[in-house]
Order: sequence, then structure tokens, then C-alpha cells
Amino acid sequence: MALLALLALALLLTGAAYATVAPETATAESASSVSEVEAGRQLFVVGCASCHGLNAQGITTAGDEDEAGNYGPSLIGVGAAAVGFQMETGRMPMAQTAPQAPRKHVEYTQDEINQIAAYVASLAPGPARPSDEELNWQSVDKEGISEGGEFFRTNCTACHNSVGAGGALPSGRYAPTLKGVDAIHIYEAMLTGPQQMPVFSDEVLTPEDKRNIIAYVKTVQQQGNDGGLGGGGLGPVADGLFIWLIGIGGLVGFSVWIGMHGTRSKKR
Ligand code: HEC
Ligand code: HEC
Repeated sequence: MALLALLALALLLTGAAYATVAPETATAESASSVSEVEAGRQLFVVGCASCHGLNAQGITTAGDEDEAGNYGPSLIGVGAAAVGFQMETGRMPMAQTAPQAPRKHVEYTQDEINQIAAYVASLAPGPARPSDEELNWQSVDKEGISEGGEFFRTNCTACHNSVGAGGALPSGRYAPTLKGVDAIHIYEAMLTGPQQMPVFSDEVLTPEDKRNIIAYVKTVQQQGNDGGLGGGGLGPVADGLFIWLIGIGGLVGFSVWIGMHGTRSKKR
């Protein structure tokens, strides 16, 4: 009997303890995230809904060939990473529809951006913002950097140039320079593929590959130009043209000068 009573008491105590502790923490947590999502939704309705729709479903404009198409694309499933990238680089909210959203001054606070990101992430599963561990490019060793360089040359140079100086694209668009871009935004650009840029999902480039690429981009930017003038890192065509015009042009000029001032020409 004593044993049974003890068992009943133990069960009662565990139950009571669970009832007081567990649900409380659970409700407190979800309440804070619900209010974050709700705050984000309100900010969204004010600042973004005019182009992206009241429920972020996107807006398509009617009009002629050029203007038909998305006025603002659907944001369902783009995830917190896309919002973080677009808003922290000042691209969104866009001032007016244009071929490309330029980088500009950020007008939202970090809290507001987090709230909008939480709202968009609550609509459908999408890429989350990268963790500190995934961004820790300083810990990448030399081997990782050279691997990152290889990945960069195969996947990014076509648009961003071999040292990330950027370049022009068709229809008035451009791939921006990667100089001074924060590691988190390099990561998120790969993860979400803004505009013409392809999406490099984690199946295509693993988080480790992404970190190596960031390490390469950052290292290249910190390197000096041991060979003299960098020439803007515009690539072999620009360098070749420079050598052809200035270098060979100079030599031709010098030969002409020798021809005119040599002893033979003086005798004549
Ligand atoms: C003037 C219209 C306009 C406003 C206002 C605007 N956007 Fe956009 N947004 C666009 C257009 C157009 C694109 C697609 C072109 C691009 O990515 O440059 C876009 C793209 C995006 C993307 C990228 C989607 C993807 O597939 O990766 C995100 C995220 C985004 N907007 C978030 C926002 C948020 C958040 C706000 C409010 C703070 C906002 N936008 C306000 C027009 C707008
Ligand atoms: C097909 C061309 C293309 C390729 C390939 C490409 N990008 Fe981009 N990238 C773009 C364009 C276009 C933009 C500008 C998007 C915008 O403004 O919305 C961009 C933007 C970026 C940005 C944001 C820069 C800023 O100013 O905020 C980063 C970072 C970036 N790319 C990194 C990469 C990396 C790393 C790779 C290779 C893994 C890569 N890109 C491959 C076209 C490309």
C-alpha cells in the first residue's frame, strides 16, 4: 500500500510540476513570435504592399508588352534571407519600378527588418538567414580559399568578373561590384539569387562551399597589387587593349623619333 501511495504521489507531483512549467514557456515563446510576425505584417502593408500585394502574393500590371509582367513579384516562399538581403542593402523598398533595384541608404531599423523578415518567413517555408557559423569565413584555411576561388571562377566570374569588380549585363542591368559587401549579403545573394543572378541552393553549393567563396572574395579584396597598378581589375581584354594602345603605340612613336633623329637622317 505504501508503495502504491508513493507512486501515486510521485505521478501527481510530476504532473503538477509539468503543468506549471511547460505550457507557460511554450505560450510565452509563441506569443512573442506571433507579435513579431504581426508587427512585420503591419510594416509590410504600409511599405511594401503597394507593389507586392496586401498578402505578399505579388501584383501583375496590365499594359503593353514592356510593362506587362510583375510590378512586384510574389514573396511567398522567398524566406527571411531574401528580405534580409533586399532590405539591408537598401534595395527594398524600391522607390519606383525600374529594370534593377540599386543599392541605397537603409531607412528601416534592424528590428523592423527582422519583423518583416519574420512575417515573410511565416507565409511559407523559405531560406532562413545564415548562422554565424556559416558566415565565419575568417576560419577558412588557404586550401579552402583556393577552392573558393575555383568555385568563384566557374560560377560567378561570367557576371561579376574574376576579382568581383562587377560588369554590365543586357537590357540596362548590371552585376554589381562585390567590394565591401558584407559576408552575410554575399551568402544571401547566393541563397536567394536576386534578379538575373541564379539561385545557388545548398544542393548546388554546400554551406561550406559558400563560406569558401566568401573567404576568396574577401581575401582578393584585401590583397595589394604586387605587379603595380591594378587597372580596376577589369580583366584581360581591358589589360590587353591598354598594352596594345599605350605600350605598342609608345614603342612605335619612339621608333619614329629615332628614325628622325638618328645620325643617318642628319647626314641627309
Ligand atoms: C515600387 C515597388 C516596390 C516596393 C515599394 C517594394 N518592392 Fe520589393 N520588389 C519590387 C520588384 C520590381 C522586385 C523584383 C526586381 C528586383 O529584385 O530587383 C522586388 C523584389 C523583392 C524581393 C526579392 C524577391 C526574390 O524573389 O528574391 C524581396 C524579398 C522584396 N522585394 C521585398 C520587399 C519588401 C520587404 C518591401 C517593403 C519594405 C518591398 N519589397 C517594397 C518592387 C517593390
Ligand atoms: C548571370 C549573372 C550572375 C551570376 C552568374 C552571379 N551573379 Fe551575383 N549578381 C548578379 C546580378 C544581376 C546582381 C544584382 C541583383 C540586384 O541588384 O537585384 C547580383 C548581385 C550579387 C550580390 C549583391 C551585391 C551587392 O551590391 O549587394 C552578391 C554578393 C553576388 N551577386 C554574389 C555572387 C556570387 C558569389 C556568385 C557566384 C556564386 C554570383 N553572384 C553569380 C548577377 C550574377
